[in-house]
Amino acid sequence: MKGIKEFAEGGEKVYYQQKILALANMLRNSKRTFALTGAGISTESGIPDFRSPGTGLWTKHDPIKVASVSALLRDPVTFYKVNLEHWINFTKARPNAAHYALARLERDGLLAGVITQNIDGLHLAAGSQKVWEVHGHLRTCHCLDCGESYSFDHLVSQYRAGTVPPICDRCRGVLRLDVVLFEDPMGEDFLHATRALTGCNLLLVIGSSLQVYPVASLPERTRQLVIINEGHTPWDLRANLVINGKAGQVMTDLLAALDRE
Ligand code: APR
Ligand code: ZN
Repeated sequence: MKGIKEFAEGGEKVYYQQKILALANMLRNSKRTFALTGAGISTESGIPDFRSPGTGLWTKHDPIKVASVSALLRDPVTFYKVNLEHWINFTKARPNAAHYALARLERDGLLAGVITQNIDGLHLAAGSQKVWEVHGHLRTCHCLDCGESYSFDHLVSQYRAGTVPPICDRCRGVLRLDVVLFEDPMGEDFLHATRALTGCNLLLVIGSSLQVYPVASLPERTRQLVIINEGHTPWDLRANLVINGKAGQVMTDLLAALDRE
C-alpha cells in the first residue's frame, strides 16, 4: 500500500506530466509564440540570478548603489571593481539545455523569437536567430564623452592592465558597456520587441521574477501566458499555465513531449 508521501509524489508527477502535455499542445496550436527570459534561464549555466533567496546578486548588493548610471558616474573605479569580474564570468558561461531547447523550437517553426533581459549572450550562443536583448549585451562598450565604440575585449584588456576605469583611446573619456543600467532609458531592442509582440498568441516566460518594469508589463501583450519558473511571480494568477521547476528540465521534458507526437 503506498504511503501518503509516495501517493502525493506520484500525484505530483502525473500533474507535472499533464502540464507538460498541455504546454506542448498550446505550442503546437499557437500561430505566434515568443519566449521572454530572465536570469533564471542562465543559473544552470553557472550565472547567479538577482533575486533568488540567498544566491541572488541583489540579495547581497543594492543594485542602485552598484549597477546604476549614478553609481558609474559617481565612482567609476568602484563600479568597475564591483561589476566587471562578474560580467567577465558571464562571457565564459556556456548555454544550457533550456537555451538550446528554445533555439530548436525556433528552427522547428514553433517560436518566433526570444526576448531576453539577460546580457550574457547565451541565446545567440545556443543558436537562436531572433533575439531581442532588451537590457543590452556585453559585446561592445562606448565612450561617455565622445561616443566612440570599442569591443568588450578592448575594455577588459585595459582593466587587466590596471587602467581602471577603462578610458577612450581618442578623448580619454570613461568607457561604459552597452548594457541597460538602472536609471538608463530602455534601448532600441525593447521598442522592437514590443512591436514584434503584436498579435502574440502565446508567451513563454522562463526564469524571470517579472518584477522589473517595463519588461514586466510585456505579458499584457499576449493572448495566452505560460510561466516556467522556480519561484512565484506577480503574474502567476493571471497565467494560463504555471510550471514551477528548473528551466533545463522543463524544456527537456517539453521537447520530449513534442517529439513523442
Ligand atoms: N529554472 C527556472 N527558474 C529559475 C532557475 C532555474 N534554473 N533559477 C532561478 N530561477 C528563477 C528564480 O526563482 C527567479 O524567480 O528565475 C527568477 C529570476 O528572477 P531575477 O533574479 O529577478 O532575474 P530577472 O527576472 O531576470 O531580473 C530582471 O532585473 O536587476 C535587473 O537587469 C536585471 O535583467 C535583470 C532584471
Ligand atoms: Zn571618447
